[in-house]
Amino acid sequence: MSDPIKTVLAIESSCDETAVAVLRGNATEVEILCSEISSQIEIHREYGGVVPELASRNHSLTLRPLVEQALKNAGITLAEIDCFSATAGPGLASSLLVGHTAAKAMSAATGKPFVSVNHMEGHLLSAFIESKSGRGIEPNIALVVSGGHTMILDTQEFGKYELVGKTLDDAAGEAFDKVAKMLQLPYPGGPEIEKMALTGDPKAYAFPRSMMKKPHYNFSFSGLKTAVLYTLSELNTEDGKASAEQLPDLCASFQEAVIDVLAVKTLKVALAKKAKIITLSGGVSCNSALRQRFQTDCDKHGIQLMVSSPVLSTDNAAMIGYVALQKCLRSEFSDLSEDVNPNLPLNTLVLR
Ligand SMILES: Nc1ncnc2c1ncn2[C@@H]1O[C@H](COP(=O)(O)OP(=O)(O)OP(=O)(O)O)[C@@H](O)[C@H]1O
Ligand SMILES: [Mg+2]
Repeated sequence: MSDPIKTVLAIESSCDETAVAVLRGNATEVEILCSEISSQIEIHREYGGVVPELASRNHSLTLRPLVEQALKNAGITLAEIDCFSATAGPGLASSLLVGHTAAKAMSAATGKPFVSVNHMEGHLLSAFIESKSGRGIEPNIALVVSGGHTMILDTQEFGKYELVGKTLDDAAGEAFDKVAKMLQLPYPGGPEIEKMALTGDPKAYAFPRSMMKKPHYNFSFSGLKTAVLYTLSELNTEDGKASAEQLPDLCASFQEAVIDVLAVKTLKVALAKKAKIITLSGGVSCNSALRQRFQTDCDKHGIQLMVSSPVLSTDNAAMIGYVALQKCLRSEFSDLSEDVNPNLPLNTLVLR
């Protein structure tokens, strides 16, 4: 590794995962010394979604022991950290505040700099964390598909991102979660639908692919969601519940419709921009059928597909640490008076 090498500690607490990671590296080579995640899914499952106050209370209970565990597992002391970082947004304000304030406190106590990180920049660049190319972040067309966002970005270099397309209504992950709820599957819905779809026929129901032929790269998933609802009501099922025979076909057909739109639009952008790399990130990119479809499309057109391990695709602190490391190497530090912003906008990324 060429100098300089920095060690960063990162905290992610934007939603229902409390996460702490320690990363060490430079612009081209990064090592995750540890990445700890404490999930609250079991706590929120009985409510069918995240309850903000429960989430923040649990972050505050979990965070300190998780930081101690992270340092122990990384085999380093607080004094060896060059920079403390945390997610500043977007996310739930009360949850963001717990991690953000803790990182600022550690920065103040040690005299080391603090770096605020945009959660979506974390997702966006997560495909490069495990890259062994030795080239760091390379130009790519990125599809970010998470619980709250669906967007295509043209990433030229760190900090230079052009928004090419986005969802006009629901995010892809949100559509998975809402359709799963309709089908009376547990929260979070994405993995449940993927499991069910394994034994279903993706052509059983002809669900709509919105805006496929429009001369732009935006998405819409609300029509698809409504189509599933109508189909379900037409099935005349007992207490609105699909039968064990119907469920896999409904899931497979819905999943296929989402993947189809995501793949066709992203590939169109990549071909129009002559991209050499497509990256996938965000929780929905854990979906194996989605990964497989992108791999097939990329192979057909000689484009490299980069996607992180599933554990780095859903919320985690390593992706926050990766962005913090890039900022730390550029001495782009944040002031300790900086606040969280639940709606931290994308143009923060574009303009920085
Ligand atoms: N295997 C899967 N197939 C489809 N969707 C999945 C899968 N695994 C997770 N998801 C979906 O990913 C979403 C969670 O991803 P992530 O943690 O990146 O989102 P978020 O942090 O809630 O939202 P954002 O990052 O936009 O603020 C959920 O909607 C979940 O259903
Ligand atoms: Mg996320």
